[in-house]
Amino acid sequence: MKNQNNNLINAQTTIRRAWPDDEPMISRFVDSALPKSDFFVQHGKHKSYIQRYKVFIAELFGQVIGWSVIDRQNKLIHLLVHPDYRRHGIGTELLKVSAPKIIRSKSDQSTGNPINWYQKHGYTLLAKSTGKNRNIDILIKGDSIHFD
Ligand SMILES: CC(C)(COP(=O)(O)OP(=O)(O)OC[C@H]1O[C@@H](n2cnc3c(N)ncnc32)[C@H](O)[C@@H]1OP(=O)(O)O)[C@@H](O)C(=O)NCCC(=O)NCCS
Repeated sequence: MKNQNNNLINAQTTIRRAWPDDEPMISRFVDSALPKSDFFVQHGKHKSYIQRYKVFIAELFGQVIGWSVIDRQNKLIHLLVHPDYRRHGIGTELLKVSAPKIIRSKSDQSTGNPINWYQKHGYTLLAKSTGKNRNIDILIKGDSIHFD
């Protein structure tokens, strides 16, 4: 039964770029899937992310179950999969389509530090923030920076 559910989730999940009309369902998703103790994204931010950055969503039966945001420097600033749908490869697919050169990741999340997960996907730790915004890891694709 578990395998059947896994196959259904994998087969039915679509990953696509978000449109401005998607903003309400993205807000609902982030509110329900991201513990406030980890981070809070104000609703107004979602609209500006969609307008100014690249936002991708994973959708299953009309519901958002995953979300990523990449800024203009090709830096991933958010990646989140709904707890009920983790370990189905959705995070990996979102990371693939987002294809960031840089990742900004919070190391003290309630679900643990995702650094090992990013390293498994070919990213290398470049810096750890020790200033005002503590607990932030910066990772880069591969093991060196290439300036375009
Ligand atoms: C990290 C995250 C995006 C992964 O999404 P996902 O859809 O579960 O990822 P995948 O299914 O592609 O990969 C799952 C694998 O990664 C591992 N993994 C997941 N989170 C991990 C973490 N924090 N540390 C180490 N490994 C992790 C799982 O154990 C699993 O391993 P397995 O394949 O051997 O069973 C998801 O767990 C999440 O949303 N976490 C909370 C928010 C977060 O940490 N976001 C990233 C920083 S901004």
